Amino acid sequence: MALDLDPGTAALGNPQLIQAIVDEMAGGAISFERFMELALYHPEHGYYRKPGRIGRQGDFLTSPVIHPMFGWAIAAWCRDAWARLGEPAQFTIFEPAAGEGALATAILDWAEGRGDGFREAIRYVALEPNSPGTDPRVEWATPPVAPAPSGVVVTNELFDALPVRLFDAGPRGPVEVYVRWDGERFVEQPGGIASIDGAPMEGRFEVNQRAYPVMRSLCSLVERGSVLVFDYGYPQEELWAPWRTTGTLLCFYRHTAHEDPYLHVGEQDITTHVNFSELAAAGEDEGMTIFGPVSQSEFLYALGIGGLVDAARSDMQEYFARRRALEQLADGAGLGRIRVLAATSGIEGVPPGFEAAG
Ligand SMILES: C[S@@+](CC[C@H](N)C(=O)[O-])C[C@H]1O[C@@H](n2cnc3c(N)ncnc32)[C@H](O)[C@@H]1O
Repeated sequence: MALDLDPGTAALGNPQLIQAIVDEMAGGAISFERFMELALYHPEHGYYRKPGRIGRQGDFLTSPVIHPMFGWAIAAWCRDAWARLGEPAQFTIFEPAAGEGALATAILDWAEGRGDGFREAIRYVALEPNSPGTDPRVEWATPPVAPAPSGVVVTNELFDALPVRLFDAGPRGPVEVYVRWDGERFVEQPGGIASIDGAPMEGRFEVNQRAYPVMRSLCSLVERGSVLVFDYGYPQEELWAPWRTTGTLLCFYRHTAHEDPYLHVGEQDITTHVNFSELAAAGEDEGMTIFGPVSQSEFLYALGIGGLVDAARSDMQEYFARRRALEQLADGAGLGRIRVLAATSGIEGVPPGFEAAG
């Protein structure tokens, strides 16, 4: 006897989240930005509310989870900032979007291994609203937090995880994408026409209107020091180049990338590329000096990360682990494409890794 095997909304993702989104729609439509916010950050059922999303067991890899050597390189970069600031007795490292703390742990381990006073100066503050980690050396805080007199703000893949507005270019201007429930699935419908300076004349594109204020808030966290941002993205002219007609939105589900945000709702990551011109403008508007962006691959090689691979030659297992990790971190088709931008205030000179950027 054949049974009714239709899984209902379970085929589209987390049924409780889908119901919550449908309830909020109340028979109408919500902006794509709100849909993305609920899919990733719904207070109970959002994708990032559950731990274990990042890593081999999850949906995608980020640089800190590849190997601690990424964090060791950043630790050395922070130590250089500390030295340039005259080795202050207290030096705060803020990490917005710290995830479960892989980068924090690597940075603190590196500092502990040096025995030169740097570790004693560090106060490590992770700003992570979802599934925070458990390293007891880290203060897990939620904004607002008081600014520090000196320190570094470091963040990896924060901006590409912020909800974006979605637009389709039309003859009368950009038309915002809205989302509604058709009884079986989420479908798109056109919303209002917007006026956006420099917007593409063709195809689909995203506007991340949270990136600028978030970057400004990061820059205001340290009075003297640096902000170091790692993220996928381009300067505006490249992000909105006429040939890029399908935007940059990507979803990651169990290490497979695709472009449908209405599948695996609440069970997949949704990400877009960042407008680095806006991040630079936000830093400048906070009175900071901007360096980069450079590619992660250029940045890590300029810091001398290759030396960490050679240094493990006496332990073949570790040597090959580091060599493989470096290939991934510098992969021009993967993590090596990530851009790195620094904003500094009260620190002399060009920060390490940006010398070639002019
Ligand atoms: C792509 S994950 C990156 C996590 C980690 N940095 C890594 O590289 O593995 C994005 C993270 O940003 C966090 N996030 C989102 N909005 C945030 C905000 N406004 N402030 C701080 N973190 C935020 C999410 O909870 C999530 O942990």
